[in-house]
Amino acid sequence: MESPLIYVMLVLLNVFVFSSGVIHNKGKERTYFSCSGEGILTGLHTIKLFLTMDNLKVRCFFRNENQSPSKEILGLFTSGGLAPNMIITNSTFYGGYYFKLTPFSNRLEWLIDIPRQNITVNTDIAAVEQWMIKITMHEGLNIYDTEGTLLDLVREPILQWNLGRVLTEMEVRDLYPEVNDIKVTKSPCANDVALIGFMMKPSSNGVFIGKTISGFWTYKECIWHDLTEIIYAELKDEHQGLTVIDLVLTNHFLVILTSLGLYVSSDLRYPTTSQIKLSRAEFCGFERVDYIRGNLWYNEKCFANRESFEVDYVTITFNRNRTLSESSSCFFSKEPFLHWLPCVFSTIKNEKSIPRVITFLIDQETDSGIYLFNVQDTKETYVTVAMLKDGKPSPRPKFPSFHFPSTFTLPLGMIFHPRSHFLYVYGSQA
Ligand SMILES: *[C@@H]1O[C@H](CO)[C@@H](O)[C@H](O)[C@H]1NC(C)=O
Ligand SMILES: *[C@@H]1O[C@H](CO)[C@@H](O)[C@H](O)[C@H]1NC(C)=O
Ligand SMILES: *[C@@H]1O[C@H](CO)[C@@H](O)[C@H](O)[C@H]1NC(C)=O
Repeated sequence: MESPLIYVMLVLLNVFVFSSGVIHNKGKERTYFSCSGEGILTGLHTIKLFLTMDNLKVRCFFRNENQSPSKEILGLFTSGGLAPNMIITNSTFYGGYYFKLTPFSNRLEWLIDIPRQNITVNTDIAAVEQWMIKITMHEGLNIYDTEGTLLDLVREPILQWNLGRVLTEMEVRDLYPEVNDIKVTKSPCANDVALIGFMMKPSSNGVFIGKTISGFWTYKECIWHDLTEIIYAELKDEHQGLTVIDLVLTNHFLVILTSLGLYVSSDLRYPTTSQIKLSRAEFCGFERVDYIRGNLWYNEKCFANRESFEVDYVTITFNRNRTLSESSSCFFSKEPFLHWLPCVFSTIKNEKSIPRVITFLIDQETDSGIYLFNVQDTKETYVTVAMLKDGKPSPRPKFPSFHFPSTFTLPLGMIFHPRSHFLYVYGSQA
């Protein structure tokens, strides 16, 4: 992959005392502090680094606007005994690393060369937090600071798998006219790792998923895979009208809802084959017309520091016309997502106004299930919380339901804020 060296950084402010002597004669020339390295992505005010089994190497230097290295500025810093340092942090770790002044192809640069073991000793595949990094000239002064991320390519689960044949740029472009919509999911621990799925038009066919390790930093960096054959292999038949409907990447599993059923990967931490394997979860009596109107729901939480009781839950809801009871429009499961249980166990037999489950989320911290219900006839929308008993939501609500005003006519979904207990419900208001 070509690594575009887009040069970064802070504009040397006029107020900055060091610069005044040097840049004085040159009018408004600006100086940039740039960092680069193999496989590193740099951009305005941010940098993305990737950790492999090798040492992490980053070079930093000053540049003028005309791209030539600025020796004068460098000289000012070095004669003052200053060198940049890099700070690597996550929620449980703080590491400081110093750059060394090094000659590099006829010029002086600051180089940092950190053995992997200095950052992490682990190499097992696991849900681990992506690190935040900061490269700074003066810690605490925010002068010449660059912030960014460091992703461990060795440990991030989804990156250890081959998702199927890689599409050429041309092939991806040819798909565009066939695409109705897109769906995106990201790794719960590493925000830069994300998957994007094409929802194809009914006339088209195929499961195409793009994978980025830099939060879609550049167009080219997203690699597209064709999973169609993997899905068909499991289906043992080539039905037409196959497309991605929704997808969720949990800490340890990939769940893909397609128009021909729900597919779940094996545990991503244990790659037994290089190509990803997907198994189909059975929903008796459900067909293409149901799946294409389905949705997946996931309460995202990074398990890097997980408690032993914590597991991921995923919910699937169907927007069925033919629904006879509410219990057949929503199912939930916990990893490894082999058994899917109805979200609603109650036996409300009030045929006139059956509440439809728009969303159902599990909150493990309070051991409860949260419903977003909608009653079409009466236009009622409300949230109900049920305690979990033996892993199933109990029919009796924990508190009185929260009712939304009747102007909230079209509820579409509900999510938990990842790091707080705020619940967000969204939709259309009349
Ligand atoms: C890595 O760790 C070793 C041993 O603690 C230390 O000598 C070395 O300076 C460290 N390297 C960097 C770049 O911090
Ligand atoms: C934070 O980074 C340290 C050092 O690499 C690592 O040992 C630890 O597991 C990480 N913590 C989390 C929560 O990912
Ligand atoms: C479901 O019902 C709506 C109107 O109630 C109708 O527009 C739609 O075509 C129906 N869909 C299916 C799959 O039957």
